[in-house]
Amino acid sequence: MREISINARHIEGQPMFRLIDKVKRLEAQGRRIIHLEIGDPDFGTPKVITEAAKKSLDAGETHYGSSWGMTDFVEAIRQTTQRSRGFTPATDQVLVTPGANIAIFYAVFCLSNPGQEVLVPDPGFPTYLSAIRMCGAVPVPYPLRDRNAFRLRAEDIEPLITDKTRLLIINSPQNPTGAITEPDALKEIYELAVKHDLYVYSDEIYARMVYGDQDFFSIAGLDACKERVILSNGFSKAFSMTGWRLGAVVAPPEVAERMMLLLQTTSSCVSAFVQRAGLEAITGDQQPVREMMAEYKARRDLLVNGLNAIPGISCHLPGGAFYAFPNISSFGMTSEAFADAMLDKAGVALLPGSNFGDQGEGFVRICYASSRENISAALDSIAQACKAL
Ligand SMILES: Cc1ncc(COP(=O)(O)O)c(C=O)c1O
Repeated sequence: MREISINARHIEGQPMFRLIDKVKRLEAQGRRIIHLEIGDPDFGTPKVITEAAKKSLDAGETHYGSSWGMTDFVEAIRQTTQRSRGFTPATDQVLVTPGANIAIFYAVFCLSNPGQEVLVPDPGFPTYLSAIRMCGAVPVPYPLRDRNAFRLRAEDIEPLITDKTRLLIINSPQNPTGAITEPDALKEIYELAVKHDLYVYSDEIYARMVYGDQDFFSIAGLDACKERVILSNGFSKAFSMTGWRLGAVVAPPEVAERMMLLLQTTSSCVSAFVQRAGLEAITGDQQPVREMMAEYKARRDLLVNGLNAIPGISCHLPGGAFYAFPNISSFGMTSEAFADAMLDKAGVALLPGSNFGDQGEGFVRICYASSRENISAALDSIAQACKAL
């Protein structure tokens, strides 16, 4: 009998793409929409990075390569890890991946069996849930609380650990809240993982996107990714390279090897010219990144001050990433209804907090990867639309 597999039935995708379809329909009808929904930088990829890729193509680097990644690039990742996180991983701990999204699937597939439990942040990046269910494992959401400014807390995680728990996923700076968890809290979480013998997947894709009011700390330094920590990073956000599909993982050697074999099975390797671009991104001039971060910081301040000036809305100042996660619960409507109202009445696309888990209800995610002009216009329209709710 022709039938879709059970695994395929568990694929959920990313809920935000539903809203994107609706936005596209409105735009096709001629409505002008301000896009604050998707986490895609409005800056082009820095020219030095695209030049490195062009050079690679011109040099004929257009063939299969090692599934681990190019030797020069792996070496640069090792040195960058030393500079940013205080340890140098061995060569067999580093894996170059086609983006950070797929690395989540690799890790969940390699570290959890069907029926086992994986702890995920709630609200959190939706891919975690879909990847876990796809593998037949069970996502167990742990709450990030408004009263803790959405920072991770060991005491919110520990009660949810059972003898089926295998993996703990953490994310700081965080999507959708922009929260940065403090070093002491991350050390407590690491101790928890040791006590219960869990793997920790630390999604650090926003590590370079911190605004200086709070330090970034990586849990990966606590075991140098030798035993239980899998550090995942990506080039999409800080280097404005979302379309390039490039990431890197540092993991215990036996985990890195399994993830590499999964990559080899599904993608063979990452394109050489994309890796050359990544090499330039981490070893070249960091001025373009500093300039983008200065602009994001100005936008963050504009947005968060503007939101807090709207009666009924309150918003923490996010320490990193490019998202704000305001509380809109005083309007007495679901976050989905609020987001719909903002789209219809204000012409502003933002995402319902419930897209990121049950704890996201009562909030919306606003991505400030858009010009200050757009952010100011959006704030005016949101303020007007809120008066009529
Ligand atoms: C927390 C988090 N992890 C991973 C990703 C995936 O990034 P990419 O696949 O573009 O590297 C994203 C993208 O939004 C994210 O927010």
